[in-house]
Amino acid sequence: MRSIRVELGERSYPIYIGNGALDQAALFAAHIKGRQVAVVTNDVVAPLYLERLCQALSGFSITPIILPDGEVHKDWQTLQLVFDALLGARHDRKTTLIALGGGVIGDMTGFAAACYQRGVDFIQVPTTLLSQVDSSVGGKTGINHPLGKNMIGAFYQPRAVVIDIDTLRTLPSRELSAGLAEVIKYGLIHDQEFLGWLEQYIDRLLALDAAALLEAIERSCVIKAEVVAADEREGGIRAILNLGHTFGHAIETHMGYGSWLHGEAVAAGTVMALEMSRRLGWLAERDRDRGIRLLHRAGLPVAPPAEMTPEDFSRHMAVDKKVLDGKLRLVLLRRLGDAVVTGDFAPEALAGTFATDFAALKHQVCA
Ligand code: NAD
Ligand code: GLY
Repeated sequence: MRSIRVELGERSYPIYIGNGALDQAALFAAHIKGRQVAVVTNDVVAPLYLERLCQALSGFSITPIILPDGEVHKDWQTLQLVFDALLGARHDRKTTLIALGGGVIGDMTGFAAACYQRGVDFIQVPTTLLSQVDSSVGGKTGINHPLGKNMIGAFYQPRAVVIDIDTLRTLPSRELSAGLAEVIKYGLIHDQEFLGWLEQYIDRLLALDAAALLEAIERSCVIKAEVVAADEREGGIRAILNLGHTFGHAIETHMGYGSWLHGEAVAAGTVMALEMSRRLGWLAERDRDRGIRLLHRAGLPVAPPAEMTPEDFSRHMAVDKKVLDGKLRLVLLRRLGDAVVTGDFAPEALAGTFATDFAALKHQVCA
């Protein structure tokens, strides 16, 4: 079992990573204060892992809360089901919520924990690659609004993150690729050496090689923990974790939540950010192409939806959380491994990015 610590003073917590972590009762018990736990999961993950987790929690009084699956249910109505169940089973302020599932369940459970009786403990048990390398760490919790992705929420840290790599064996390959988008992100924004490692090991990751997965998840969590420790509430540096997300959130919102997976939208958005960085004269063309090729090899889309117009992007991007005083700010690369968050760019670079024929670029770079 590997362990990484997210250093946040009295709110610090461990991330445990290993095979079979789901069965290790002691990992959970160490972070549960009271006798009551509620396991929040969904109707896809419950048949796979709920019973096993309940075995590990057998010393506690457990309320399972099974939500409908999918990004489309990351909303107020579904959140209300969690509060209904907690109040119905008379959970008190010492209760602990456990999020068993991907990023949708993790974000919603964390937000429920932040709100229930003004805040109760919660533990993340992420079961998708995306949630294991990104969403379960760092305390961003929340739900979507029809007008904007993740627009309602709170910063609220878990007490622990328990990552069982074996759960990835049941994950559909499209979801595995979506998680790789966020793994590749860490290489692009922060760690050129990791990017080179990913170029070497991407096929093994896609084949679920256990050693490669452990390495990729640990290295991703180390970077995420470091950035979160430096800037928990995204006053500055943490925003670099959103490379490709402003374009990507526009794709998700425009296409309807769930149509493009979050990681897929981030992948296409990352290609747009790479292209814009090149247009600004910051990123070399060969480095843009390295990013595009790696995302493509990971099984990800490297072009935005053909039907989205520049006006569509502008409209959706105007409600991004990085917009300040009406000014759009984007995460861009000065070079590989060096990201900036800036609103200081020539508008022609953004217009040129919107006008780029990404399907042709894909053909040229990945042929
Ligand atoms: P998801 O939670 O929808 O999970 C993807 C699919 O896989 C779902 O159908 C789920 O039920 C299923 N699934 C989960 N684990 C499985 C397993 N082991 N085997 C088989 N099926 C399994 O999607 P996701 O990609 O995990 O998360 C995306 C969400 O995370 C988005 O809402 C995004 O906004 C959010 N997010 C949050 C942060 C953050 O910092 N809080 C960061 C990145 C993304
Ligand atoms: N996924 C971006 C962040 O946690 O800040």
